[in-house]
Order: sequence, then structure tokens, then C-alpha cells
Amino acid sequence: MKILIIGNGGREHCIARKIFESKFFKFNGGELYCATGSPGINEFSKPVFISVDDVYQLANFAEKEKIDYTIVGPEIPLALGITDEFNKRGLKIFGPSQKAAEIESSKIFAKNLMKKYNIPTAEFRYFTETNIRDAYEYLQETSYPVVIKADGLAAGKGVIIAEDRIHAVETIDSFIEEKIFGKAGEGFIIEKFMFGYEVSLFAITDGDNYILLPSSQDHKRIGEGDTGKNTGGMGAFSPLPDELFDEELKRAVEKKIIKPVLKAMKEEGRKYKGCLYAGLMIVKESGKKKPYVVEFNCRFGDPETQAVVPLIKSDFLEMLKASVEGNIDKYTLETHNKYSCCVVMSSKGYPGNFQKGNIISGIEKAEEKAQVCHSGTKYDEAGNIITNGGRVLAVTALSSSSHKLANKKCYEAVSEIHFSDSYFRRDIGKKILKKK
Ligand code: GLY
Repeated sequence: MKILIIGNGGREHCIARKIFESKFFKFNGGELYCATGSPGINEFSKPVFISVDDVYQLANFAEKEKIDYTIVGPEIPLALGITDEFNKRGLKIFGPSQKAAEIESSKIFAKNLMKKYNIPTAEFRYFTETNIRDAYEYLQETSYPVVIKADGLAAGKGVIIAEDRIHAVETIDSFIEEKIFGKAGEGFIIEKFMFGYEVSLFAITDGDNYILLPSSQDHKRIGEGDTGKNTGGMGAFSPLPDELFDEELKRAVEKKIIKPVLKAMKEEGRKYKGCLYAGLMIVKESGKKKPYVVEFNCRFGDPETQAVVPLIKSDFLEMLKASVEGNIDKYTLETHNKYSCCVVMSSKGYPGNFQKGNIISGIEKAEEKAQVCHSGTKYDEAGNIITNGGRVLAVTALSSSSHKLANKKCYEAVSEIHFSDSYFRRDIGKKILKKK
């Protein structure tokens, strides 16, 4: 059996490792390929030097190599229609079609869908250059903070929280005049800021049925105490304790969000298959917790995957296969009764400018306590592993007894890893640990 993974970050490293450990994969003489691979992934997978956005060449490769299943990590190939191209050629692939992936690649599509089908989300307005005057007027009369979102894909950086009108005006000017996100920022949404806490939830679906993976919480801001700029994510833990996400809240999310959105996508002729990532805000209203959608993503989250996937006990590859083949209702999810904590180590300066090429040491030592996923690394000519991205490594530790222990083990592992200008948040999961 041949499996091709598309993507080369921490999420894909975690997925590749889990597939490599799959009994189903081993039993079928599994061989793993990854486009384009990384020093971490290449330990158990053959690198394929085709860019993740070269959908046509990736399909050629899969055809030629007789790949049985392709698993897509990032949103870009999905937004470019990789699933459609593979399906057209009779190749099996995990991930939504281009039309279904619009749930992430067009924020306005997702917001309009939610409005039409009564799925709870923050009130919003949509603007482009043509009605920019209305945007300025709106910013004069609205209350603050507001959330400004680029319509298109912006690598996790297209969401800005503006505390006041000056910041909001600067932001929309940077979208429209400076074009900081290019085409992705030509349209933008301004929505009401929701006060609450965030939950990330992955639904693995074949379009008709779904299973929910353990809940998790991301830490999106660069600074401790949730301050500073938004990033792709600086750390996560899973599962959430009952005080954040109990069975009642989970049922409400399924009833009001997951089931309706999958039904809506089907009704719109965009049947959704793959991993649907629901980014939720839990808001307290009249003493009761209510879930709202912050965003949908058309793929696994990063770094939530590195916290959630190690907790899966049942065969991971069989789960992805069930989504592809339309029988997820036959798959029984089993999870380890464990707690996970993932801390992202990044290059100083991220999400702004940062230096690459710093030698990394201590990964092996850290791996005695934790799983280390490579997010942005490469080999230099001398064979050293060096930094090659904003987010460099994602370190995940598990504990059978508590979140506190998972957290402690994780930071011990992080302390073994060294590179110049390394940065990580020291408060991942701190909010739940304080309550224990
Ligand atoms: N961690 C947020 C994301 O993957 O979009």
C-alpha cells in the first residue's frame, strides 16, 4: 500500500508518524511518500520534490506511482482543487473538493452560508474597494473591538483584532491600499468581537456522517497572556476539561453547528468530505454557554493536530480511508485516556520577519520525553538540522494522569532543544492548570 502525504509542516509530520504506526498500513506493506518532506518526516517517508501547489504534477506522480491514498495537509492545494483533479483521474484522496474548501478559502462564502442556514456566528458586514466608504462609515458608528478578516487565504495572518477606530482604519487601508495580503485582502469582513474562550474541534466526515476527534484549544497570539499579533498557533492542549467543554456543550455544537453545516454544504451542491475544522467561541449568555463559529477550516489545524492525533487509539489511516470511501459510520473512534500538551518553538520575530539557518540541537534528547514534529526545518550542507521557518518545531508530551504532568513533561522536553533566537510561549495551558 502506498500513501502520499501533501505538506511539510508539523501537522503533516504528526499525520505521517501516525500513519507509519498504523497496523493497517503495516499489514498492507505500507510505503509512505511525502511532498515535499522535512528532516523529521523523511525519517520514515520518501521525499517527493513537487511543490504542494502543483496539483497537476502531484496527480501525475500519484498516477505513475500507483498511490493508494493521498492525504492533504494544508489548505492551499485543496483551494486549488487537488481533490477534484485526483478524483477526475480515479485517484483516492482525503480532503474536500475545491467548492467545499471554499468554507475556508472564502470567509464571505462561509459567513453567508452560516447566515442562510442559521448557524451561530458573529454579526458581520462585507466590504470591498467599491464600497470602502461604507466601511469607513461603519467603523465610525460601531462599537470596539472589532474583528477584521481578509476574505481569502492569508496563512493564518488575515485576522486582525482592532481595539479602536484608528487601528481599524489602518487595517483596512493596509488591505486595500498597501495590499498586504494581495488578492486575499481585496474583500474583507468586519465582525463583532465575541467575548469568550476558543475551542477547536475536528470532524472527520464523508459528507453524510462524521466523527468528532477530542477537543483542543489553540494559543493563537504570539505573546504570553494572549497578547500581540495572531500567528498560525503557538501551542495547544487536548482534550479540554469538562469546565470548558462538557457533554452538554458538545451536544449543542453538534446540533447547532456540525450537523447543520454538513447538511447545508450538501444542499448547496458542495458535499464536504475530509476534516472539517470548527473554530468556536464559547460565549456566556444569560448564565448559559453558547457556541458560535469563529471560522471553519477545510483541513486539520496546526498545532492542534499535534495535540489531538497522538490521543487517537483506533487506526488513524482506517479513519481517513473511511472518510474517502464514504463509510465513516462504520468506523469506531477509540482514544487513549491521556492528556496532551503541545508547545511550538518559533524563530524570534515571527509572525513578522525572522532569521533562518540557525543550527538546532537537542531534538533527540527531547524525544525521550515527547514527540517532536518539524514545522520549519531543513538540513544544511554539513548535515545539521537548521531553522527554516517562523514556526520551527512542535513539541508534544502526553500524560496518563493529568494535564499538569503533560505540561511539565512538554516544557522539560522543550528545554532540551536549543537554537539561536528561539522563542516559545511559557503559558500554554496555563489557564486550565491554574484551576486544578
Ligand atoms: N491553529 C489554527 C489553524 O490551523 O488554522
